[in-house]
Amino acid sequence: MSLSLPMASSALSASERALSLYEALPYPNVPLSQTARNALPEMFKMSYTTAQYLRTHTIVPPEGKVLLNAGCGSGWETLMMAEANPGAQIVACDLSPASVKLTEERLRHHGFADAEFYVLNLLELERLGIQFDFISLNDVLYLLEDPTEGLRAMKNVLKPDGIIRANLHSRRQRQVFFRLQEAFQKVGQFDVPPAVGAQNVREFMGSLREEVAQAVLWNPANYAEDAAIMNNYLLSNDKGFTIPDLFRMLQQAGLSFLSLVDRPDWSVESLFKEVPEFVRQRLATLSIMERLHLYELLRPVHRLIDFWAEHAGSSPVLPWSDEDWLSGSVQFNPLLMDNPRFRQEYSKALQEKRPYEMQWTGATHGRISIPAEKVSWLAPLLQGPTPVRELIQQAVQLGSPDEERTTAEVLTFLTNLEDFLFLMLQ
Ligand SMILES: C[S@@+](CC[C@H](N)C(=O)[O-])C[C@H]1O[C@@H](n2cnc3c(N)ncnc32)[C@H](O)[C@@H]1O
Repeated sequence: MSLSLPMASSALSASERALSLYEALPYPNVPLSQTARNALPEMFKMSYTTAQYLRTHTIVPPEGKVLLNAGCGSGWETLMMAEANPGAQIVACDLSPASVKLTEERLRHHGFADAEFYVLNLLELERLGIQFDFISLNDVLYLLEDPTEGLRAMKNVLKPDGIIRANLHSRRQRQVFFRLQEAFQKVGQFDVPPAVGAQNVREFMGSLREEVAQAVLWNPANYAEDAAIMNNYLLSNDKGFTIPDLFRMLQQAGLSFLSLVDRPDWSVESLFKEVPEFVRQRLATLSIMERLHLYELLRPVHRLIDFWAEHAGSSPVLPWSDEDWLSGSVQFNPLLMDNPRFRQEYSKALQEKRPYEMQWTGATHGRISIPAEKVSWLAPLLQGPTPVRELIQQAVQLGSPDEERTTAEVLTFLTNLEDFLFLMLQ
């Protein structure tokens, strides 16, 4: 007599496990008709122009650029990519045919008829024979057997001046989930169908004594959907990384770190009431990697280490000098200019002479807050790029006649907003 037993999940490859989960539950579960146009913090991460400005200080429109969403899931990320980059050619791929089908339906529904879709392992992307200007892979790398191999595969299809946006799970922020995943493996929940496993996890967690449940941060309200359980407590092959891991992996893949996507959140100085002098002195000598690592040791609050990377060997741009500012023109990030809600709300703040506030990047500290008297300084930008000297003249006319002081004030104000990639200088 022969028995056919289900294969234990540990015997399956990472791709087989991802396929079996995401074929049953394409991720994320967002209604097809929902637009991403007003999700500016999400679009920010997907914007080719924003990332390219960070890399080169040039404003390169997305028209005609070739963009890849690798591991596209149900296509929500692909839709953000398409909406954030008007006129770009969009290509999406995923292991799971059901996910690719949903992505195609979603993009067609929103009018992106000429996008291309492939059922394909991202490790085999070279088979397409396409080179990309920008590649995004959100919540994918850590699912691969060897994420460095995934990065290398992306590098092999990246144009010389292209940019990759990807992320890894943080080992420190997510440690509770890694512990519980191990616990649920021990009680056999990785080898049962998703609906059964999800229900068993709810029962298990609900049966824990209160102090134990609290210590593992269980909140049933967050886990009403099976997908939420599967993507956290029962996620096969989930792995955590640190900042030094990321830098090592990039180097092994022939890539260079450009920036964290939520970089306003990673300032070591922001963690102190007042930075002790010996720390300040030491910080000045640390590399970017060491500073970011210090941050994650002190405050590991980010689930993702979300980054932009480029080919190794590219030279970093130098910060703009005062002369650059005074001879340049400044403009709002094109994502803002293309966003009717932003234009409307900024104009309203201007008319009503009140402060302007908005959540800009996805970072907790990515909130833009412009005091009422400075909102009018940027008014000409609603019409398009404006010479910085014109903005200074206008600020002098509107307020203080002390030209030298006003120049310094305007430059500080513009520099801060440019650091957030809210403004761009040309
Ligand atoms: C958590 S989902 C993320 C979906 C999408 N990137 C997003 O953020 O909305 C992970 C996706 O990666 C896909 N995936 C995992 N390994 C892959 C591989 N080797 N090649 C292509 N897709 C893969 C899965 O099928 C799944 O759809």
